[in-house]
Amino acid sequence: MQPLQLLALLAPGEPVSGAALAAQAGVTRAAIWKQVEALRARGVPVEARGRAGYCLPWPVQMLDATRIRAALPSPWVRSLGMLEVHGELDSTSSELQRRLATAADLSMVLAESQTAGRGRRGRSWLSPPGLNLYLSCLKRFEPGFAALGGLSLAIGVMVLRALDELGVAGAGLKWPNDVLAAASHGGRGKLAGILVELSGEYQGPCAAIIGVGLNLRLTPALLRQAGQPACDLASLTAGAPPDRNRVGAALVAALAHGLCQFEREGFAAFVADYARHDLLRGQTLQVSGALGKFEGMGAGVDARGALQVRMSDGGLRRIDSADVTVRRT
Ligand code: BTN
Repeated sequence: MQPLQLLALLAPGEPVSGAALAAQAGVTRAAIWKQVEALRARGVPVEARGRAGYCLPWPVQMLDATRIRAALPSPWVRSLGMLEVHGELDSTSSELQRRLATAADLSMVLAESQTAGRGRRGRSWLSPPGLNLYLSCLKRFEPGFAALGGLSLAIGVMVLRALDELGVAGAGLKWPNDVLAAASHGGRGKLAGILVELSGEYQGPCAAIIGVGLNLRLTPALLRQAGQPACDLASLTAGAPPDRNRVGAALVAALAHGLCQFEREGFAAFVADYARHDLLRGQTLQVSGALGKFEGMGAGVDARGALQVRMSDGGLRRIDSADVTVRRT
């Protein structure tokens, strides 16, 4: 028996006795107990309710490619390449990387859990099963990297458009593309992370593998393990995040639509939306990067997606890559 099989049996959110679980799975109660421990070790808060048995604190909708497709607006179903849901992968982005030669444009891979989820700057991305979303999308671009200025910022906008479609408000963008929202500790935390990996030519065909991790439910233990301030959709929706397959469909549709729009119109089509959600504009920023360390005021992004920082002498600096923190006043 695998931990995901047990997760599926507990998914309705009602307590089930160890004996009933063992009978349903055709294994011993000891095997059930082992898988309960395995799920807990991966961050899933399986509760023991005495004689009533084991229970999840909330119902979980297991990811299902058929349900995701059914929830997609029909024009986007036709434009998609493959849409696959895996139980467990090392990383959805690594899976697309391995299949890069043959995968069709706008192919999407989701996984219930990742064993080696990757974040930006060599960080890992916590990927417990049943709680969050891990999705990667392949988009091919004929003109090469040269035409992709602002792509990673545009993807932040696409994630916010998906949240808007789901009726979830309260998230914003921290340059270049962190999706942040109010966190339980009082500040802001990461609601979604975006990893864009490019391969191919500068002025010829190239491919972007776009990985999005979106937190739906983080337990206190996962929040501690995250290694950075984080938050989840549950906290933005009074504890009742939308159905996971609906969230998956909203993300798939926003990426399919947004990436085609980016291909036609570039970052220009996203500048206004980015500005509406820009959490750094008007904030005192501490910037550390290739230009050294300095302070200034966030002044939006330019047409290529570079961060603009107003200096105390009135001059404007444009930054393509740096660590930016907001100075607390
Ligand atoms: C970040 O560090 O902010 C980016 C996190 C990106 C995580 C996602 S989850 C789906 C895809 N697969 C991965 O291994 N990483 C990305």
